[in-house]
Amino acid sequence: MAENKQQRFRFSEAPIWDLQRAYYEEEGMKAWNNDQVPQYITSNPMIATAYAEMIFGFLQDLSVKGSISEPVTILELGAGAGRLAFHVLHKLCELRDYAGIVLPPFRYVMTDLALKNVTAWASHPALQSFIQQGLLDFARFDAVHDTKLNLVVSETTIQPGDLKQPLLIVANYFFDSIPQELIYVGDGKIYECDVLVEFPENFNQLKPSEALEKMTLNYEYRLAPEYEAETYPYYDVVALYQQELEDSHILFPTVGLRCLERLSQLSRSGFLLITADKGDHRMENWKFADPPRLIHHGSFSLTANYHPIQHMFEQRGALALFTTSHHYRDINVGCIFMLETPMNYANTRLAYRRFIERFGPDDFFSMKEWVDQRIETMGLQHILVFWRLGGYDAELFIQCTKFISSLLPEASDEEMLDIQSGIHIMWSSYYAMEQRYDLALDAGLLLFEMDMYEDAKWFLETSIHADEDESVSTVLYCLAVCNYELGFEEAALKYIREALVLEPEDEEALALLKALSEGEQAF
Ligand SMILES: C[S@@+](CC[C@H](N)C(=O)[O-])C[C@H]1O[C@@H](n2cnc3c(N)ncnc32)[C@H](O)[C@@H]1O
Repeated sequence: MAENKQQRFRFSEAPIWDLQRAYYEEEGMKAWNNDQVPQYITSNPMIATAYAEMIFGFLQDLSVKGSISEPVTILELGAGAGRLAFHVLHKLCELRDYAGIVLPPFRYVMTDLALKNVTAWASHPALQSFIQQGLLDFARFDAVHDTKLNLVVSETTIQPGDLKQPLLIVANYFFDSIPQELIYVGDGKIYECDVLVEFPENFNQLKPSEALEKMTLNYEYRLAPEYEAETYPYYDVVALYQQELEDSHILFPTVGLRCLERLSQLSRSGFLLITADKGDHRMENWKFADPPRLIHHGSFSLTANYHPIQHMFEQRGALALFTTSHHYRDINVGCIFMLETPMNYANTRLAYRRFIERFGPDDFFSMKEWVDQRIETMGLQHILVFWRLGGYDAELFIQCTKFISSLLPEASDEEMLDIQSGIHIMWSSYYAMEQRYDLALDAGLLLFEMDMYEDAKWFLETSIHADEDESVSTVLYCLAVCNYELGFEEAALKYIREALVLEPEDEEALALLKALSEGEQAF
C-alpha cells in the first residue's frame, strides 16, 4: 500500500472494511476486553429476554400451524462475544420448561466471521450444557460471501433448500459492521459518494485499530446512473430517495441485503429477522444527512440504514415491525416477517408489542445510563427493583456491590433475602467474558456480610478454586469463619492456618485460631 498518499475508493470497497475484518479476526474475543467494542447494549439479559419472548412466540405460532416435527434453526449473525446467545438460550429454555406446551424442537447456531470466536464459544463453560442437549451449534460464516453453514458440533452442512421450517435470523450490531454503499442524492440525481483515503505514515506497520484511527477520509461525488437504471436490484428504493430526499448522504446496505437474500435460500418457508442496531428505519432520518462519521472503538461503527431492508422485504410481502409509538434513542429493534401470511404469527407480534414497543431494550438502556449516574443516591429497594428489571445482570451488581454493602446495616430481612436470591439467579445466568472478573468473590463477600455462611462458603470456595494462585488472607479468614459457623472445625482450622501464612500478625485470625485450638466460643 502506498504511504502518505490519497487514494480514491468506492465507499464499500475502501480499506476501512478490510481493516474492520482484520480487527475482528485478529482480536477474536479480546475485541470486547475493557468494553473496547461495546456489547452491553445489544447483549444484556434484558434484551435477551425480549428476544427469547419473540422466539418463544414464533415457536408457538409454528405449533399453532401444526409445524411441530421439524427443528427450527435460530441463526445469529456476527455473534461476537457470545453473551446474547447465552442469555437468549437460557431464557428460552426457562420459558419452554415453564410453559410445558408442545413446540417444535429448536437449535441455535452462533456464527461469526472470526474463527477465533467460534473456537472460543465451543469451549466456553457456560455453553457446554446447551451443546450437550443438542440445542447449540456453531459455524464460521462470512456474511459477504457465504451461502451455506458448516456446523461445527453436528458436523453437518445447511445448504440452500435444506430447512423446512422458516429460518429465524438474529443480527445485533451487525448491519453497520459490514460493508455498505454510500450514495448522495442532490438535485434529483444519484451520486456515488467515493471516499478519498489519506493513509498515515507507516500505515503498513500499524495494527488495524490504529490504522483506522489514523486514516483521514474525505468524500467526492460522481454521477452514478447505474443506481437509477431499472435493472438495478434495489431500483425502487433508490427511486424513492431520488423523489423524496435532497442533499442527503445515504448508507445503503447492499451487502446486508444480499446476505439476507442468500440466507433466505436456506429455507423453503422464508425467514424471521430480529435485529438491533443504532440504525434508522425511517426515511426522514436520512433527510439532509451529512457524510457518515466513523465511531472508533478498536473497530468502528456507523448508523445502519434499516429503511431499505424494511422497504425491500415489505415489497415482497413481508411485515416489518419497528417501534411506531415513539422514537428510539440508542438502539432500534426491528422484526421482519418474510413469511407467508405474516399476520398469522400473532404470538410473535404480541411479543414484539409487549417486549419492544411498550417498554424495550432502548428504554431500558436509557434508564440504565440514568441509574449509572445516580446509584449512590438510590435506596436498596430501588437498586433491587432495577436489578430485577435488568434480569439480575452481573454488570449492575459488580458496579454497586460496595454500595449495597454500605446499605446493609439498614437493610430489612426481606431485602437481604432478595439480595441472596438475586445473587443465585445472577450466578445461574452469568456468562464470563474473555476478560475475567471474579464475580464469585463479590457475591461471596456480600453474603458473608449478611451472615449467610453456607452460601458465602460456596461462592468464596468457587472464587479461590477458580484462581488458586491468588488467595487473599481476608478471603481465607472469611472461609474459616463460614466453616466455623457451620460447625466444620477442621476446615475452619485449615483456612485460618492458610490465612496466617499470608498475614502472620492478623489479630482476628490469631484469635480465631486460638479459639479453634482451645475449643472455645470464637464470636
Ligand atoms: C459490533 S460486533 C457485534 C457483536 C455482537 N453481535 C454484539 O451485539 O455485541 C460485529 C460482529 O460482526 C462480526 N463480523 C464483521 N464482519 C463480518 C462478516 N463479514 N461476516 C460475519 N460476521 C462479521 C465481527 O466479527 C463481530 O463479531
